[in-house]
Amino acid sequence: MTRTHVPVLAGELIDLTQPAPGETAVDCTFGAGGHARLVAERIGPTGTLVCIDRDPAAEERFEELAREVACETRFLRMDYADGLELLSEEELRADLVYLDLGISSMQVDARERGFSYSYDAPLDMRMDPGQELDAREVVGTWDERQLEQLFRRYGEEPNARRIAREIVRRREAAPITTTAELVAAIEAALPAAVRRRFGGGHPAKRVFQAVRIAVNAELDSLDRALPLAWGLLRNEGRFAAISFHSLEDRRVKRFLADRARGCICPPDFPVCVCGREPEAELLTGRAVAPTPGEVADNPRAKSGRLRAARKLDTEDRG
Ligand SMILES: C[S@@+](CC[C@H](N)C(=O)[O-])C[C@H]1O[C@@H](n2cnc3c(N)ncnc32)[C@H](O)[C@@H]1O
Repeated sequence: MTRTHVPVLAGELIDLTQPAPGETAVDCTFGAGGHARLVAERIGPTGTLVCIDRDPAAEERFEELAREVACETRFLRMDYADGLELLSEEELRADLVYLDLGISSMQVDARERGFSYSYDAPLDMRMDPGQELDAREVVGTWDERQLEQLFRRYGEEPNARRIAREIVRRREAAPITTTAELVAAIEAALPAAVRRRFGGGHPAKRVFQAVRIAVNAELDSLDRALPLAWGLLRNEGRFAAISFHSLEDRRVKRFLADRARGCICPPDFPVCVCGREPEAELLTGRAVAPTPGEVADNPRAKSGRLRAARKLDTEDRG
């Protein structure tokens, strides 16, 4: 059975970003709408909530939410980077833009979609079932070097080379078309001592993450989206992002730190020549992690990290 998605760090997101009556908010990763519902309640009947997701299953959930909340709502079924671009072409001004990255429990638990190493299913992993590239193509056609780099870069997998070699060896005999076949290749590539070290974790976790990121071009979307999201915000608008691995969190952290930095002149310059002023106030010093209580209730929240910032009014300076 497909469980619904439990929103991660939801109270913290609301406390930090303080959605207020009448505001306009953009939820870039609607999922099951857990965060969106809380935001809709705060912005009330005079507010506007624009929701984006590339998964048609999320659009169905949105239809339910739209009937139940009082604010004006709109859904864009597309990559959030494309959605943000569209909204900026329309000159939408937002008070709040947020992303809750990665995949939803609905996607993981829909066995046939092939996101999970725990169920045997066709290798798919597409968030948007209409897109061409799927996990079968990545695993079946990328050469050994590409696979090794993929597992190393996007999975931070120390045994990337061994796993890539084993996948290529196996697929020469017969194509790898299912999650169970991929898991078997990963397990066979790892020496017994390495496999034992995984303890509670699954040895296929990093490779599955890497393949999913590649199939859905997740980091490209995030890189494109960050400046677009920031550009939509009015002065005093708030931005928030919840990441689930260091590749995402590092990007969000750098992006916000860059906006919060003032003068970038070399330290030995007697006066500032760059004239650069901070555009952001960081609302989170370190990334906010879920409480032990939240993780106990929802183990999938464990790696969630929230960062938020407020856009400063730079117009009257000077
Ligand atoms: C972690 S879930 C969001 C859960 C949601 N906040 C909730 O409370 O139910 C992430 C969602 O973002 C969507 N998503 C991820 N990357 C996307 C992208 N580049 N463009 C559009 N949607 C994306 C996924 O399809 C998934 O539904």
